[in-house]
Amino acid sequence: MCGIVGYTGPREAYPIVLKGLKRLEYRGYDSSGVALLNAGLKVYKKKGKVADLEEHLIGKDLHSNTGIGHTRWATHGEPSDRNAHPHISPTGKLAMIHNGIIENYALIKKELISKGYSFSSDTDTEVLLFFIEDIQINNHCSLEEAVRIALKRVVGAYCILLIDQNDPETIIAARKGSPLVIGIGKGEHFLASDASPIIEYTKEVVYVNDYELAIVRPDELILKNLGNEKVTPYITKLDMELAAIEKGGYDHFMIKEIHEQPSTIQDCLRGRIDAQAGTITMAGVEQNIDKLTNAKRIIMVACGTSWHAGLVAEYIIEELCRIPVEVEYASEFRYRNPIIQEGDVIIAISQSGETADTIVALENAKEKGAFIFGVVNAVGSSIARLSHAGAYTHAGPEIGVASTKAFTGQLTVLTMVALKIAKAKETITNEKYLTLLQELEAVPEKVAVILQQAEQIKSIATLFDKAGDALFLGRGYNFPVALEGALKLKEISYIHAEGYPAAEMKHGPIALVTETLPVVFIATKDSYHEKIVSNMQEIKARKGIVISIITEGDAISPTLSNATFSIPAADEIIAPMLSVIPLQLLSYYVGIAKGFDVDKPRNLAKSVTVE
Ligand code: M6R
Repeated sequence: MCGIVGYTGPREAYPIVLKGLKRLEYRGYDSSGVALLNAGLKVYKKKGKVADLEEHLIGKDLHSNTGIGHTRWATHGEPSDRNAHPHISPTGKLAMIHNGIIENYALIKKELISKGYSFSSDTDTEVLLFFIEDIQINNHCSLEEAVRIALKRVVGAYCILLIDQNDPETIIAARKGSPLVIGIGKGEHFLASDASPIIEYTKEVVYVNDYELAIVRPDELILKNLGNEKVTPYITKLDMELAAIEKGGYDHFMIKEIHEQPSTIQDCLRGRIDAQAGTITMAGVEQNIDKLTNAKRIIMVACGTSWHAGLVAEYIIEELCRIPVEVEYASEFRYRNPIIQEGDVIIAISQSGETADTIVALENAKEKGAFIFGVVNAVGSSIARLSHAGAYTHAGPEIGVASTKAFTGQLTVLTMVALKIAKAKETITNEKYLTLLQELEAVPEKVAVILQQAEQIKSIATLFDKAGDALFLGRGYNFPVALEGALKLKEISYIHAEGYPAAEMKHGPIALVTETLPVVFIATKDSYHEKIVSNMQEIKARKGIVISIITEGDAISPTLSNATFSIPAADEIIAPMLSVIPLQLLSYYVGIAKGFDVDKPRNLAKSVTVE
């Protein structure tokens, strides 16, 4: 939540910062602003999207070689010009941007008010900035020292960038809980919440760790901890191409990312799976195979779509590995003093690797001695670094706020992990193991077949024209897919949608069924198929609009449905990787038909770095 960008070097800072903000806009888009240093400090900010800021700045003197910029997802204070970042210190000399939440800001604000300060915004950020300047003035110390003192008192999460008009080539940055990447160029440095604003200038980056402070000048990067000891920057090479973060001819990132799935799933399988040889190579699993096979319990910890991937994995792991699995919302897990015992394995699932609740849940579990295995998409992210071992999903940058290709990447990784554990534990027959390897290898092609029929979904989307609600029903492995379909529709089209196990429908939701209620069945051929067909009949009898996602060749379901979409046959363990694709397309086309901004849905942000 909130995107931050900074630049210092010989180039014009404003175009770099502006472009960076556009790349980071998925992190928050209710207001944005820039602060530029050039013979003084200039701060410009505007409610609305980055494009509104850009328009507002036409004709202004934006010349500067050091600048910072921010795109906001409001936490404290409504979206408005005055709450937008950057904020300016009381003397007018400092400007600061912030991603995160200062939890004890009210107490600090009270202290500052008693000293005579008055504030022009409702934000926690302005409080922290005033606090820093107050320390600097009263202690007669450097800005760096004042930041260090202030951060020792701060409770909460932050990534901050500060500039000072008295030191026009320096950016001071610090992080705890919110991400910060620093790109190293030749005589220049780039700072951002993720690597997307940096990638076109340099591939050499440093991921700043929690409780580290960076003093960044054009030709110097000094990293220190809050104890003022120098830390050696660990330089990583980015494995990401510019094309991966552009729309590449598609109207929206969401549809681009849906269509990328044949290749992202292939990328996830590549180098790992060899069905002919009957092998799966995953170093993170192999090096910890004893911990994984001897696990008394596996606990999946995640949020949102990643939590749904965990639910699918629960079914797969319990079936194949005979290990009990629990799937936890990170936000609940972190607060309820969960019982973690020796031999428990936590699997953390996250696209961004920066979700605040998941991070804290893992930190708590780690402290209690749990072994953490991360299934993460964003390379080098906090969760990836916090995990003892893991496997990347290799889906590439996901920019659309709705998670699509990350989900299928998570399912691919989790299925491979389950297969490896099952093979090592000998809880799977060789025949089943080899069949599933072949099935996994065939997924990219089957997803491509589904995507070739994407146009069909446009007409199914018209069935939602008058809908205020929708139900998604599935059984077994397709139950979490029903939850995911409902979440996608809610996020993108703002239609209220619920996912249920199909059999649960009779215990309440059936009361909602009317002639205008679309009910989407995920009814692919599996061991529950006959049962779900009966559920379809029950909805049909009550005149609901039945939409069914079925396996090619199913002759019965179409007779009970107002619309059907067929997908290639697959083993039921693999089916969710296919059955979710039409649901992603459905939410996209319903959102488009309603004229919504599908890449930046109302009130949402891609990376939820606040709890
Ligand atoms: O980055 P993460 O996978 O940890 O994010 C978890 C959720 O915030 C995320 O899946 C969210 O629910 C998406 N908007 C779903 O499309």
